[in-house]
Amino acid sequence: MRTFPSAASERAARGGFLPPRRFHAQEFFELEKERLWPNVWHLVGRAAEIPDPGDWVTYDLHDLSVVAIRQVDHSVRAFHNVCPHRGNRLVDGHGHGDRLTCGFHCWVFELDGKLVGVPEQDGLPSFSRQDRGLRPLHAEVVSGFVFAHPGASPEPIASWLGDVTAELDLYRFEDMACFLRRRLELSCNWKTCLDAFQEVYHVRGVHPQLVPGLRTTQSTFGFFGAHSMMMNPNGEESARGTGSEDDPDMHLAFRRSKAERGSIDVSHLEESRLTANYQYHLFPNVTFNTHATGCQLFRFLPHPSEPERCTVDVWFLERICAGHSPTGEAEVVDVDLARTTFGESLDGFEPPESAKSFGTDLVEIYATALDQDFTLVSNLQRGLRSPGLGDLVLSAQERRIVHWHAMLDAFLEGPAFDDAWRLRFAE
Ligand code: FES
Ligand SMILES: [Fe+2]
Repeated sequence: MRTFPSAASERAARGGFLPPRRFHAQEFFELEKERLWPNVWHLVGRAAEIPDPGDWVTYDLHDLSVVAIRQVDHSVRAFHNVCPHRGNRLVDGHGHGDRLTCGFHCWVFELDGKLVGVPEQDGLPSFSRQDRGLRPLHAEVVSGFVFAHPGASPEPIASWLGDVTAELDLYRFEDMACFLRRRLELSCNWKTCLDAFQEVYHVRGVHPQLVPGLRTTQSTFGFFGAHSMMMNPNGEESARGTGSEDDPDMHLAFRRSKAERGSIDVSHLEESRLTANYQYHLFPNVTFNTHATGCQLFRFLPHPSEPERCTVDVWFLERICAGHSPTGEAEVVDVDLARTTFGESLDGFEPPESAKSFGTDLVEIYATALDQDFTLVSNLQRGLRSPGLGDLVLSAQERRIVHWHAMLDAFLEGPAFDDAWRLRFAE
């Protein structure tokens, strides 16, 4: 098991300093490719995307391509998405089939990865079909999310997630449907964008419309191994004018009424879970904001070769309202931010009936706020290359950034990782 810096969360609370090269240097990007990504659990998708035997969904990051497949016995398995014959990518996106057939020379694989069909095998050198099946990865379903790990003997997911699992359980993600998916290409390093989602210090500058509602100086923090949480009292609802910032009862009533609208049981949630904004980071590349009945999840993916580009997946999830069956998981819609904004991609969008407790108001709030973030991070990326910039200065409010970069450094440790790259805790 990896050793993380001792008392990192306490040390992070004093702030820290971060060399900006971490966000643009090709060498740092390559170190992540070599030492981070092959050694972590990846959120490859949602179990609800592959409800029936034969359903599959893919996930790509750098050289890794994974296909998660619902098995005949309803378990989920994950395989490297590559044909063992000549290396063709087997499938893309998502789909369904009794078997998987490679589009190059039509080798056929069972859902459990076994090679069962080889046209004109006589002409091939002798080999055991058993050795030429799809290579499995470790895969687990937790809280309705499918995770896979490309390593040979990873830390078990239960131990990797640790106490954050109890937090996930509260929200019942497995009872949610993802009713909106957008995929955005951004001109920034994946961490530049991720870090903007780790603090609310920037709300005053970037999201002034949220200031009346969000108490940005009253965040509380939780750390769970490599993962973290931040809670901000009085979330988005007061920003939309449904209550004054000093009226937590109003927030409580507002959230309860939303849950009631969808006949969703939230009685197990403590009051602050109904009134405040909770935000989580699952190391390394997933964050989500939760409200009582749903969440907005963000998955940050590095560009295959360029440090200053990335992809961000935005998913809106909501508990399925009583009396509704799941309407099916939303399709991914690509958004080209050079031509349109995230908000414009939502024009006219309304959550389906099964997610009516989510509310169009929340969609609008997120549309505005996310476009503000996405505009910011491209500008920020340009600044990070400036020869006039020293190490970035992180405050107590930005402690989750300090903490997670310390965790990242623990993965990158080894030859070729020198002090000039490293996060420094403040004294
Ligand atoms: S590469 Fe797949 S069958 Fe040849
Ligand atoms: Fe923001």
